[in-house]
Amino acid sequence: MDKVRFGVIGIGNMGTSHVNWLGKGEVKDAVLTAACDIKPSRLDWVRANFGDVACFEDYHQLLDSGLCDAILIATPHYYHPIIGIDAFKKGIAVLSEKPVGVYVKKVRELIAAADESGLAFGIMYNQRTSPQYQKIREIVQSGELGQLKRCVWIITDWYRTQAYYDSGAWRATWAGEGGGVLLNQAPHNLDLWQWIFGMPKKIRAFCAFGKYHNIEVEDDVTAYAEYENGATSVFITTTGEYPGTNRLEITGSRGKIVYENGKITYWKLAVDERENTFKSDKGFDRIDYEIIDLTQPGGGGPQHKGILQNFTNHILHGEPLLADGREGINMVALANAMMLSTWKNDWVEVDNDGEEFYQHLREKIATSTVKKEGVEAVADLTDSFGT
Ligand SMILES: NC(=O)c1ccc[n+]([C@@H]2O[C@H](COP(=O)([O-])OP(=O)(O)OC[C@H]3O[C@@H](n4cnc5c(N)ncnc54)[C@H](O)[C@@H]3O)[C@@H](O)[C@H]2O)c1
Repeated sequence: MDKVRFGVIGIGNMGTSHVNWLGKGEVKDAVLTAACDIKPSRLDWVRANFGDVACFEDYHQLLDSGLCDAILIATPHYYHPIIGIDAFKKGIAVLSEKPVGVYVKKVRELIAAADESGLAFGIMYNQRTSPQYQKIREIVQSGELGQLKRCVWIITDWYRTQAYYDSGAWRATWAGEGGGVLLNQAPHNLDLWQWIFGMPKKIRAFCAFGKYHNIEVEDDVTAYAEYENGATSVFITTTGEYPGTNRLEITGSRGKIVYENGKITYWKLAVDERENTFKSDKGFDRIDYEIIDLTQPGGGGPQHKGILQNFTNHILHGEPLLADGREGINMVALANAMMLSTWKNDWVEVDNDGEEFYQHLREKIATSTVKKEGVEAVADLTDSFGT
């Protein structure tokens, strides 16, 4: 194979950009050969702009067409694992939009299908291409910060209006989307949080549902997490605040990193605070530190096109994946734990079998009072692949 033939499934907000990048040859050695959407109008747009691309209203036909080595799934979230599993069974590699699924039980089935197929499996975690997050991760994982103590991420600049939520029938409903800010806007941050700082052992969270919008899912979240090594985190997100904040602060025994407004600042301690605390004879001691600007050149990096290129290179040349699809389960586990903790009003172990969350989700779908045209179809589908 000297070029990867891509099919894009779901040509909405995000899929349209993917079609443009692939269709205009902006990803080296990748070609767009097929597109699929259940809305004929989206396929009319593809035909008008990319005449050679085969168009399908049913994704099964695209998978059976023999035209694709890989698919990029950009449909509403519930479909990601469903379409992904079908693709792997047909011998087609999968690049999934985030989140990789709505609940861990289903994502585990997708991972099993990927493993069985031996095919490439990636996830569109475009923010992992940012040189800033890569640098923060490098420092944290190298041990330079010493013993990790705390991570606080206030990520409240995901402002969305009611018009946004009303723009698609599936949006912000239990049946159509399965969650709110945790599944749509904050997946990038949930992923980066665990990519940089690791997975917590347990979570206590407070999600508010429809607090700032006329929606049934969560649009405001405050979560507290504890780790095996004694470190803690606070993660705060919302779509109902303006102007929001995006401030990531990580503290260890050797210093502190703050990333805000595109700038990384590193307070590097001259001695380890843990050692100093017990060695110093001064009750009100201070520790010398340097302030280092760790901001990297290259801004936010190549983002979506970077992931597309890496996935293509992975298939053609074995380049390691920057975002392996299997790692997508961590973000889903975090989001599921935050919602379950809210519903139970209790702590939740993050590593669990997923059954309890799934049962709660099914109840939410069954008792959903929001009836939007087209949403029932996804709810039925969700029920049918249940166990
Ligand atoms: N990585 C990112 O930065 C990013 C940004 C936006 C959206 N997304 C993700 O992309 C996905 C789509 O979001 P969006 O905002 O583009 O939504 P959207 O509603 O604008 O687009 C979804 C498209 O999928 C189509 N569709 C629905 N069911 C389908 C099916 N079974 N087969 C084929 N097509 C189907 C719809 O007709 C629609 O055109 C979501 O999972 C979202 O989280 C990722």
